[in-house]
This record gives sequence, structure tokens and C-alpha cells, in this order.
Amino acid sequence: MWEQVQETVSYIKGKTNFTPEYGVILGSGLGGFTEDIQIEHTLPYNEIPNFPVSTVQGHKGALVFGTIQGKKVVAMQGRFHFYEGYSMKEVTFPVRVMKYLGVEKLIVSNASGGVNPNFKVGSIVIIKDHVNFMPEHPLRGKNDERFGPRFVNMSEPYSRKMMDKAKEIAASLQIEVQDGVYLGLQGPTFETLAEYKMVRAIGCDCVGMSTVPEVIVARHMELETFGISVITDMGNEESIDTITHAEVLEAAQEAEPKVRNLIKNLIIQY
Ligand code: HPA
Repeated sequence: MWEQVQETVSYIKGKTNFTPEYGVILGSGLGGFTEDIQIEHTLPYNEIPNFPVSTVQGHKGALVFGTIQGKKVVAMQGRFHFYEGYSMKEVTFPVRVMKYLGVEKLIVSNASGGVNPNFKVGSIVIIKDHVNFMPEHPLRGKNDERFGPRFVNMSEPYSRKMMDKAKEIAASLQIEVQDGVYLGLQGPTFETLAEYKMVRAIGCDCVGMSTVPEVIVARHMELETFGISVITDMGNEESIDTITHAEVLEAAQEAEPKVRNLIKNLIIQY
């Protein structure tokens, strides 16, 4: 794995001598963020050695390098999900690559189902913590100390400093945000009503099929991490009948300008 990561990093460095400070992973329907980047280089996933290729509708597959008011960024336009059949090592491989390209701070976005009754479709949630219910752990197996320690402290998976800054920015931009705990499940089915009730009962506010593995691997390598989620559907009796992928994408796209603005300003101001 170490060698594969270094091989991929060397390939990318041969294409662009760009050293990004921020890594950004864009979730379903949130890929428009790359329009805010002054793009210096785009690398489609299928040209990058050792990279898996994205298969889900609505996910573009490319690494986008560029600047936002002078801040250097690499964005993943489209991510890899466990439910697509990738192993957790594959799902998180790009995060390892980002680290060795120079990334110090990782920003992750996603779409999720809300179970906190104070949320509604379109709510923007700053992820303050997560519960990992994924069936495979990205750090399972022999640990390579060059990446990080065997046992990773998870007391602050999401940077408090970044959360505080994001809330301050949201207030100044009059973007309403809430915070919440995200539950990571494997999917690809949306939850049953009983499962949404369980999500709430165990203390979570929203549920989705991504983010948790990437954040674990980011913390393994001591990246400072920020997570943001758009509530695209509510997991309750009234709403469950109409939850579809189309509805998820539509709601994410509607909230996208606000999420984009928030991430952009976090990168500029943090
Ligand atoms: N459940 C799981 N993943 C999701 C949901 C959901 O309700 N909405 C968007 N991603």
C-alpha cells in the first residue's frame, strides 16, 4: 500500500508540480464546488495509476487541482463508496494520496438522511462526530507505521477549530447551519423505518453511506478534518415513502450554492 501510494503520488507530481494544502471530497450533487476553483490541472481518475474508477450516476471522477484566492486545493470530484464493491482500502486510497501530495486539511461533504426532528430537507449540518457502523474497517490488517499508529485516538475526528470557524462564517453569510452526529452505514439501500428509528435511538442525527472511512484514514495520518452534510431526505413516517436517489440529488443540488460558499470561505479564512 505504501509503495502504491508513493507510485501514484510520483505520477501526479509528474503531471503537476502543485502542492495542495486543502483536500476536498465532494459528495452527491455537490460537485459544482470545482467551479469556484481557479483550475490549474484536472486528472480523470481513470488516468491515475492505482485509482479506482467511480461508477455512480451523479458522480464525476476527477482530481481537480487549483487555487481559491491563493489557497491551494485538490478536490475529488466524486468519491468511492463501499457499496459500489470497493474495499475500504480502495475507498480511502485517494485520502492517502492527498496526504503525500501535501494536504494538511481535509474537507468532506455528503448527502444524508435526517432523523433529528429539528432538521428538514435542505438543512446544512456540520458533522461534529460520527458513529462507524460500516462492516469493514479501513485500518484493519497490518499497520504501516509510516502512515500512522496502530491505535488511533478518535476524540476529535472533526476539528473543533474548523467547526468554530465554519459556524462563524455561516453566521456572517446568513447561512443557517446546525450540527449533528453522522452515522455511517454501508448501504446501498436507504434505511427502513425501523432503521431510521434506531439511528435516532443510538444518538445520531443523520445517516449516510460515506465519509466515515475517509475521515478515519485522514485521522490515521493526522489530517485536520471538517465534515459537512446536506439533509436530502427525512427518515420518518411522513417522508420515507418518497426517498429516492433522484430526490437526494435534487435536494443536494438545491443546497449546493450555500455549502459551496461555506467551504470556499472556510478555505480562504481558516
Ligand atoms: N440514508 C442513507 N444514505 C443517504 C440518505 C439516507 O436517507 N440520504 C442520502 N444518503
